[in-house]
Amino acid sequence: MPKREEESPVVDSPKHVVVAGVTGYLGKFVAQEFKNRGYWVRALTRSMASLERPGPFTAPAISRGAVDEVFIGEATKPETLSGLCAGPVDILFSSIGISRQRDGLTFEQVDYQANRNLIELCRDSDVRKFVYVSMLGAEQIADLAITKAHERVVNDLERSGLEYAIVRPSGYFSDMGAVLDMAKRGRVLLVGDGTNRFNPIHGADLAAVCVDAAEGEDLVVEAGGPDILSQREVAELAFDVVGLPVKVTIIPLWLAYGLARFIGILNRQFGDLAKFIVTSGEVDGVGPTRGKTSLRSYFEELV
Ligand SMILES: NC(=O)c1ccc[n+]([C@@H]2O[C@H](COP(=O)([O-])OP(=O)(O)OC[C@H]3O[C@@H](n4cnc5c(N)ncnc54)[C@H](OP(=O)(O)O)[C@@H]3O)[C@@H](O)[C@H]2O)c1
Repeated sequence: MPKREEESPVVDSPKHVVVAGVTGYLGKFVAQEFKNRGYWVRALTRSMASLERPGPFTAPAISRGAVDEVFIGEATKPETLSGLCAGPVDILFSSIGISRQRDGLTFEQVDYQANRNLIELCRDSDVRKFVYVSMLGAEQIADLAITKAHERVVNDLERSGLEYAIVRPSGYFSDMGAVLDMAKRGRVLLVGDGTNRFNPIHGADLAAVCVDAAEGEDLVVEAGGPDILSQREVAELAFDVVGLPVKVTIIPLWLAYGLARFIGILNRQFGDLAKFIVTSGEVDGVGPTRGKTSLRSYFEELV
């Protein structure tokens, strides 16, 4: 049974927001940003423990004091969400999606259906606005399982009758942290020739973009960080920061697609994820510069 741990405050309080995806890299920064701007924050999580753990790659832990109420529920199971949007709730923010989880669920079940369940919940309550995090350029590669799921959420939101904002970020610094980890071990693997360009953004910078989107009028907000880099340049930067010689191994696209197909035969979900990673190694993803934190300063902080 879902349970709320504290009672809602009286009605003439600050704006109320539900944050879904709050245990993830972006969600932790977003909850903090709403809180910093004076919102009353209800966090949806599957478990109290993962809420209090620090997130991956410098995402802050969320203390009980940083959110006003914790709602234990599972977005893929609508029967556990009853009361999540109990009023007053002005905004629901969702960054729910699969990136590192190993639950055996598909992009269709999580990235699409969990967010679809939240949209329906908002429609059945007084929530005014839904802020959803998709991906920069997902519309152009919407034949992949993950991008298809994200774009179906976008289509449903457009038809929902709710006010909404779609945030479309380029890559996250959390994924760049994975490149730094490879550099620390002495070798970085790159898919494709490593020349595709993108401008990843820090979670805290993107959180500010997300809250601006919640407060603004734009339906679609694209966002990237201050540094436009190729994959190879990211690897070179990582080696420079860890003080090791540059060693890059290129996995050519034909081989990477073959591997992704093979993985897909063994496990469809991992195959879909691998295909997305390979495709990302092929396309550019440069969004308007909204972030201020440089990738070098982030790498230095991690080191
Ligand atoms: N990484 C990138 O470069 C990038 C770029 C553009 C867009 N995005 C998108 O941005 C969104 C957020 O990314 P992120 O890096 O913050 O992801 P993340 O760290 O993996 O967090 C994902 C969130 O989704 C929740 N979730 C996953 N599976 C769930 C399930 N079965 N039921 C309920 N909740 C579930 C997680 O909750 P638990 O902690 O309980 O698992 C977590 O709160 C994703 O949709 C991602 O596709 C990512």
